[in-house]
Amino acid sequence: MENQYIIKGGTPLHGEVTIGGAKNAALGILAAALMTNDTVVIDNLPDVRDINVLLDAIQGIGATVKRREPHVVEINGSTIKDNTIDYDSVRKMRASYYLLGALLGKYHKAQVVLPGGCDIGSRPIDQHLKGFRALGATVNIEYGMIHTQAEKLVGNHIFLDVVSVGATINIMLAACMAEGRTVIENAAKEPHIVDVANFLNSMGADIKGAGTDKIRISGVEKLHGSEYSIIPDQIEAGTFMIAAAATKGDVLIKNVIPKHLEAISVKLIEIGATVEEFDDAVRVSAGHRLGHSQIKTLPYPGFPTDMQPQIATLLALSEGTSIVTESIFENRFKYVDELSRMGASIKVEGNVAIIEGVHGFTGATISAPDLRAGAALVVAGLVAEGYTTIDSIKYIERGYECFEKKLCALGASIEKIPVDDERAVQKFKLKIG
Ligand code: EPZ
Repeated sequence: MENQYIIKGGTPLHGEVTIGGAKNAALGILAAALMTNDTVVIDNLPDVRDINVLLDAIQGIGATVKRREPHVVEINGSTIKDNTIDYDSVRKMRASYYLLGALLGKYHKAQVVLPGGCDIGSRPIDQHLKGFRALGATVNIEYGMIHTQAEKLVGNHIFLDVVSVGATINIMLAACMAEGRTVIENAAKEPHIVDVANFLNSMGADIKGAGTDKIRISGVEKLHGSEYSIIPDQIEAGTFMIAAAATKGDVLIKNVIPKHLEAISVKLIEIGATVEEFDDAVRVSAGHRLGHSQIKTLPYPGFPTDMQPQIATLLALSEGTSIVTESIFENRFKYVDELSRMGASIKVEGNVAIIEGVHGFTGATISAPDLRAGAALVVAGLVAEGYTTIDSIKYIERGYECFEKKLCALGASIEKIPVDDERAVQKFKLKIG
């Protein structure tokens, strides 16, 4: 059954929220966990749809997966019988491509359905494939499947033509058991790259330089078991930071690495919000209408593309004219039409959004176009006067765990109800008053 969110906006968020493990790190780490025949225990795993789909696929090829607790999983890759991944569920997710790198690295052969994922623009994987080929693998695409294999993998010097998170992780996976040394130049530097590298090193890999644009990998013969805890999710944290500021609230966001949030914190401070940093928490508050800004999304440590819809939503409520340039994915302004229906004044020209701040939004019936855009629309609903319903929340559930519950605990009026359930709508309205 499809669900939707119903929100009554207008309540400032107050209180504390705890952030879960990083989805995009976890996806790489789960694939990496298959590369040893020993048992691996992964903690701080987010319990979100993309992770659960990947775990099902891992189990589908024969790996042993034990979910000890919602956030702890035990994986053993010694029972893998198959290196073909062709499930419908996986077809819809991007990170299935990590299984290519992991299985190619371990078994020298992998076949994975071409990845899908959120429709945020053309998402080529040429850099991943270029990396595999440089390590000595052949790669063919036939009938919607990517086939890759190698007699042996040999380290090489690889210069990425574009800074790609996925290609950097995938090449690290394929190279960590290759013969000799691999260097990835122009590598992505996102926190989750470092987390996947740290995890692989905890399994006995020899990866240096993750977090810089030059990663050096010395191949090892085999990897061993490990116990590892995933870093906190930068984007979940950033989304709550924006929600606190947009609702003119005051929220302590716990279990974060403040350094990873700097690009977001600096922008919030620049437009007039208060951001206090603690060792593993940030507190965001705003008592008044915020100011305008210019933002361009860039690879880390620049402003993350995964926070673009959320900050644009905040700027749509701020004073003056803001300019937001999306330089990573060309199709990431699909939420603008929905925001306009709530009263926002945004004009998109190519990859630039020109935002004229308005004083408030009004509730509307809208649809989440993708994961982060969906989260941004929830923020809009929390601010809007009256009721907002958001459907297609399956996108939001790909990456946010208990989103509505965490927001409710901060004082928001939001509930997940079945689509087209008029009685549930009436019940919510009666309860909220
Ligand atoms: C990862 O996608 C994330 N997904 C995305 O998060 C995130 O938006 C993106 O990185 C950028 O930070 C996962 O980690 C599963 P890229 P990825 O390869 O790896 C071009 C979310 O909301 N490119 O860094 O697919 C590409 O077109 C999601 O959680 C090539 O040209 O992104 C884009 O313009 C959505 N050739 C740029 O590079 C390639 O071979 C960056 O893409 C690969 C990428």
